[in-house]
Amino acid sequence: MSKQIEKIKELVAKREKARLGGGEAAIEKQHARGKYTARERIEMLVDKGSFEEYDMFKLHRCHNFGMEKKQFLGDGVVAGSATIDGRLVYLYAQDFTVNGGSLSETMSQKICKIMDMAMTMGAPVICMNDSGGARIQEGICALAGYGEIFERNILASGVIPQISGIFGPCAGGAVYSPALTDFILMMENTSYMFLTGPKVVKTVTGEDIDSEHLGGASVHATKSGVTHFTAKTEEDAMALIRKLLSYIPSNNTEEAPRVECTDPIDRKEDSLNELLPDNPNMAYDMYKVINAITDNGEFFEVQANFAKNIIVGFARFNGQSVGIVANQPSCYAGVLDVNASRKGARFVRFCDAFNIPIVSLVDVPGFLPGTGQEYNAVILHGAQLLYAYGEATVPKITVTLRKSYGGSHIVMGCKQLRADLNFAWPTSEIAVMGASGAVAVLCAKEAKTKEDPKAFLAEKEDEYTEMFANPYQAAQYGYIDDVIEPRNTRFRICRGLAQLATKRQNLPAKKHGCMPM
Ligand code: HXC
Repeated sequence: MSKQIEKIKELVAKREKARLGGGEAAIEKQHARGKYTARERIEMLVDKGSFEEYDMFKLHRCHNFGMEKKQFLGDGVVAGSATIDGRLVYLYAQDFTVNGGSLSETMSQKICKIMDMAMTMGAPVICMNDSGGARIQEGICALAGYGEIFERNILASGVIPQISGIFGPCAGGAVYSPALTDFILMMENTSYMFLTGPKVVKTVTGEDIDSEHLGGASVHATKSGVTHFTAKTEEDAMALIRKLLSYIPSNNTEEAPRVECTDPIDRKEDSLNELLPDNPNMAYDMYKVINAITDNGEFFEVQANFAKNIIVGFARFNGQSVGIVANQPSCYAGVLDVNASRKGARFVRFCDAFNIPIVSLVDVPGFLPGTGQEYNAVILHGAQLLYAYGEATVPKITVTLRKSYGGSHIVMGCKQLRADLNFAWPTSEIAVMGASGAVAVLCAKEAKTKEDPKAFLAEKEDEYTEMFANPYQAAQYGYIDDVIEPRNTRFRICRGLAQLATKRQNLPAKKHGCMPM
């Protein structure tokens, strides 16, 4: 055997060893937990054969607590580039089979390298987390490693999309890398995220709680809103990430991929002409509207189980990706509150950062009153949504279906927040407030002087309704560009988006705004 062949064999053997991560026993253990390994995850996610791995032979340099004996080629993370649907992505997967995926200085260097490459190339970064956190034996060097990653997360924000999958533990300060990224996906039952684990919680607050109830996928999908997606299986998770990527561009200078549209843009949806109940206080399901107007009725929802009174997600019109923000009358009458405002604001900002037009479907009775809201700073959170809409320079089309009252009218993409096209269904009620509230303020004193105060107030309510519960006052002042037949909504949005394709709008020069937080 020539020396060259010998060296090549050595390389092949080293590669094979590296591919085993923490070794066969550790892989078996990982499988027994119902989890895939880092390399298996990458293979499942990317186009077949497209993964190009870097730093496969990198080793940690720690000698504390016997770490010199715990050396594995590549250390606890697999990192590199690949393609998804033919588009370049950079990605890394923490390898739990190597020292519990705990983050070493070396791992941080590997991760930062691919993050830097992603920024240079203008490609998304996908991080798959499955780690015991900072590698304890490395002390400050491990912490510094996190710091390096966080800083890159921050600098990459709004430049390239960043997606985090949580496939196992993600605890302590380690949660802040996912938290700084644009989208988080958590595995149901096998992942958790929290700042302090159950034992510390018990010591500090006395609460008895397990990992799942403290920071499992369902908690973060429904209560905290930390996660945007959950998945039952890792296969589902990978399909979800691929689908998400199909709606978004690779960086902030590009447009999202356009797909061929087989759904006629002038498709009239007669069902919409008969969708709204006669009683304006009765609910209907906003999903019916979304599914009726988007290409092939498709809608890719984000944060589906959090703050269900507002719906956000991606869809396409004439093959073009858009972000939909819609009030949901069938959940708390579509009222805006702290969580709905946070959810909407974050989504609008993502769309704006990545050149994705925003289509808003409005049916909102106002902001939720009460101490629960006020004490939790609904003022500031509402202002976040307002700020996000007002700052967004992407094409913005707002369709008002029914109620659009008071502050919530302004917040939800009104004309003064530089929406480009504002349409209203004939059923719209665009006013300072609803009839009964308005009449109570305006006519209560006078009612007391009447023989039949109730009848008087009812008469005044009718008068108010006649005057304000329609779109024509707003249209009269040009705050609504057109009143449209509901069944034409799809066509008007498609044509509007085509018209707005060349939109150019800038913000005043500044370092950055001071968003209310
Ligand atoms: C070094 C670690 C480790 C860590 C796990 N391991 N976490 N090594 N540093 N942080 C090692 C274990 O010693 C073990 O090594 C192997 O990984 C697998 O771990 P097990 O405990 O056997 O697995 P399991 O029973 O599944 O439990 C997983 C776990 C647990 C829940 C993650 O290991 C754990 O509680 N780890 C510590 C978590 C933690 O407190 N991390 C620090 C958080 S603070 P061997 O050789 O036996 O296989 C933090 C600060 C970040 O991260 C700050 C950023 C700003």
